[in-house]
Amino acid sequence: MNPLINFIYILSAALFIFGLKMLSSPATARQGNRLSSVGMLIAIIVTLMHAGLDYKWIFLGIVIGSGIGAFVAIRVKMTDMPEMVALFNGFGGISSLLLAWAEYNQNRELSVFIALVAFLSAFIGGVTFSGSMVAFGKLSGKITQKAVVFKGQHILNAAILVIALGAAVLFCITPASSLGYPLFTTILLVALAFGITSTIPIGGADMPVVISLLNSYSGLAACAAGFVISNNILIVAGALVGASGIILTNIMCKAMNRSLANVLFSGFGSTTAVQSGNGPQGEVRPASTEDVYYILEAADSVAFVPGYGLAVAQAQHAVKELGDLLEANNTEVSYAIHPVAGRMPGHMNVLLAEANVPYDQLVEMDEINPRMDTVDVCVVIGANDVVNPAALDDASSPIYGMPIIETHRANTVIVLKRSMNPGFAGIQNALFFAENARMYFGDAKASLQALVAEFKND
Ligand code: TAP
Repeated sequence: MNPLINFIYILSAALFIFGLKMLSSPATARQGNRLSSVGMLIAIIVTLMHAGLDYKWIFLGIVIGSGIGAFVAIRVKMTDMPEMVALFNGFGGISSLLLAWAEYNQNRELSVFIALVAFLSAFIGGVTFSGSMVAFGKLSGKITQKAVVFKGQHILNAAILVIALGAAVLFCITPASSLGYPLFTTILLVALAFGITSTIPIGGADMPVVISLLNSYSGLAACAAGFVISNNILIVAGALVGASGIILTNIMCKAMNRSLANVLFSGFGSTTAVQSGNGPQGEVRPASTEDVYYILEAADSVAFVPGYGLAVAQAQHAVKELGDLLEANNTEVSYAIHPVAGRMPGHMNVLLAEANVPYDQLVEMDEINPRMDTVDVCVVIGANDVVNPAALDDASSPIYGMPIIETHRANTVIVLKRSMNPGFAGIQNALFFAENARMYFGDAKASLQALVAEFKND
């Protein structure tokens, strides 16, 4: 390959890596995203300098693809972002599958190594595509969100894998024989089937973890595709996506105190675990807008703890406005972020950044917990599981062992939610019945706006 092209590929790869590094802090994330995009643009331009390309089809693809991408990206709501990522992963996967297929169509005389990477590209790409479509369907409610489990499911999946492996071995040995094409077609069909059968047993609420895993698969498929067509930047970019996807999957599993095997095979969500009737019980202490206003007005320090309900209510601007009013009232304000609050990685950071909450007011769980006893008021906004003390003291709870933001240790806790309904894990929360807790019922945005109005009227 042309050394100049390879040199520019190295520059692109460096931009990807620096961009990825910058994604690890909300303060630099946007810039990191831009840096990586520039790296990809350079890589695409340089790739187009290869001799012998048919530009007519490439530009048609670029125009249609960019048009659809820009249209969808502008319209998508923040809460629908995981669905969009699922679609992106799926399209990445099918591209790798098609690339391997096209290469095999052009040249059947593959070496064992190229046949192996063509198999990996097609198989992982196919699994990623159909798995991502199921994940998209579950998240958007187009198919059942429940974990679909049935007897013999693991055996079926194992059988599909055995067929895929058998076909792969035969294909790698004899790609050019008359059996080669039927074997390759079998691999494609089995991959698409496996994507479906391995994703349907996973509950809709676990989909963000699955999407992150599928993201990793799409990277691995692209990496294999890079070997098929000997394109170095595709190999590097695919490897980076593969590695970062698996690291993110691991972070999410750890933050939920669940193993990846538990997410993939336990059928979490196949039964309704809702315990509103038989979980912790007692008396709740509802609070009015006026009650909450007086508590906040007198507080020296307030820590907001946002959760999924804040995202649903789109209450990020209202909480920022209330935070500003509290600061003007000489109250120390912080926002305590749990790593899996909401439904996707960085969900709360993204929403609060959108409302221009200063980064230095964002406090991670490990930072706030040690000083929780000194916090005057914790305002829990549409969060539930991530503040449920059962994770610490109830060994029978499905979330036992998950690290939580220990709001129950604050002087006073005010919980903003609409009802006593449980959150993602389907379990009741003893925090709501605690002596120091007040329930401020209502839609999070409306409740925060009412408090803002109360402060302004003062
Ligand atoms: P949840 O435990 O899901 O609780 C959200 C709460 O928000 C609900 O109890 C709901 O109560 C309330 N709510 C919904 N709409 C609201 C509105 N408009 N106004 C006010 N409140 C509203 O959320 P969480 O504490 O953020 O925990 C996240 C959960 O998702 C964890 O169990 C986590 O393991 C899981 N999860 C997260 C991720 C990532 S990466 N973030 C990935 C997979 C799974 P009402 O209906 O009573 O209002």
